[in-house]
Amino acid sequence: MSLPNHGANPQLLYSELAIPLPEQIIDYSENVNPLGPPLSVVENWQGYMHLLSSYPEPHGEPFLSAIAAYHVIPKSRVLLGNGAAEIFSLLAGHFQRKCAMIVHPTFSEYEATLRANGTEIMHLSVEEIENWKLPIDHIIENMKRADLLYLCTPNNPTGVLPPRNELVHLLEEGQKMGCTVILDEAFIDWIGEEASMISYIEDFPNLIIVRSMTKMYAIPGIRLGYMVSSPALIEALREKVPHWHINGIAAHIGAKCIDETHYREKSIEYAKKSKAKFVDFLQKLGCKTTKSVTNYVCFKLPHPDLSQRFFHDMLNSGIVLRHTENFKGLDGKWFRVGMKNEQAMAVLQEEMEAWIKQNSHL
Ligand SMILES: Cc1ncc(COP(=O)(O)O)c(C=O)c1O
Repeated sequence: MSLPNHGANPQLLYSELAIPLPEQIIDYSENVNPLGPPLSVVENWQGYMHLLSSYPEPHGEPFLSAIAAYHVIPKSRVLLGNGAAEIFSLLAGHFQRKCAMIVHPTFSEYEATLRANGTEIMHLSVEEIENWKLPIDHIIENMKRADLLYLCTPNNPTGVLPPRNELVHLLEEGQKMGCTVILDEAFIDWIGEEASMISYIEDFPNLIIVRSMTKMYAIPGIRLGYMVSSPALIEALREKVPHWHINGIAAHIGAKCIDETHYREKSIEYAKKSKAKFVDFLQKLGCKTTKSVTNYVCFKLPHPDLSQRFFHDMLNSGIVLRHTENFKGLDGKWFRVGMKNEQAMAVLQEEMEAWIKQNSHL
């Protein structure tokens, strides 16, 4: 039986699979910061109330200036979005009816937005899942025809970041062949700013970088993201966005989040330790794991043919994992787990250990 796509909606999964909802569920399929939003945002909640009764600043201030200062780039290189999701829709609309390359397995929204805009899509697969090894020669060969290349760096769902020299090589080849490279850095915050390709933005007019505020700052409900690219593209897209698309509260919360250096460092450290511990646990159980640099990781059971049974049994125990059946290029035998607090990670490990023991005879 095929499994429904359940991004951030575990109740849907239970109802579609007709599994009674356990009293308590823990959703490991979702991958925002388990530490929750920065305290400064939570404590200032009342302070945002006055923004409700006036129109937002039309350019998304004070967030726009905060982003430009944070990356040390001019504001003319930044376009804000109602989440990175809005940026992807805008890009697909702008490059309507062109030809785009997507390297799978990866985030499904690239394909969804491109399809909605009648774009031709070339689907490529990585050479190996654990290292999300890019098929560099194949990509370059296809750049002759493709106008766009989408890469998720670090990738969702595997969490792998391709080596910088490979990304630079692709940008160089893209520049020669007229192929724009879109790097989705929604999860780059989990490594640190030094890993971002934003510093290459002046060297490569064919580079577009998309960022999300959702993941690191645990604010998916606020909807805030941005892209960095050439001033010409930013200006062209700015004409297409609806007026006031960045709400006033989001613009103020975003600016506050950007100031949170200590919160970012603490979050990176927490996710790093939590993931290292979990990966160690998985490997001792005999599972394969992806080389993730983010706050989530994918694993495959020692007996992958039992994956469907495992997924259902976990759901019955109130454990929601992200299955990968609807990720092109994955065989549904991988599961993605977002790092949670210590207690929740301990629950997951106990349940998995017990399940493997019970099913070792199969
Ligand atoms: C890789 C990736 N990019 C972008 C997004 C969209 O992020 P936002 O919440 O900023 O729209 C997501 C959301 O899950 C994602 O996984």
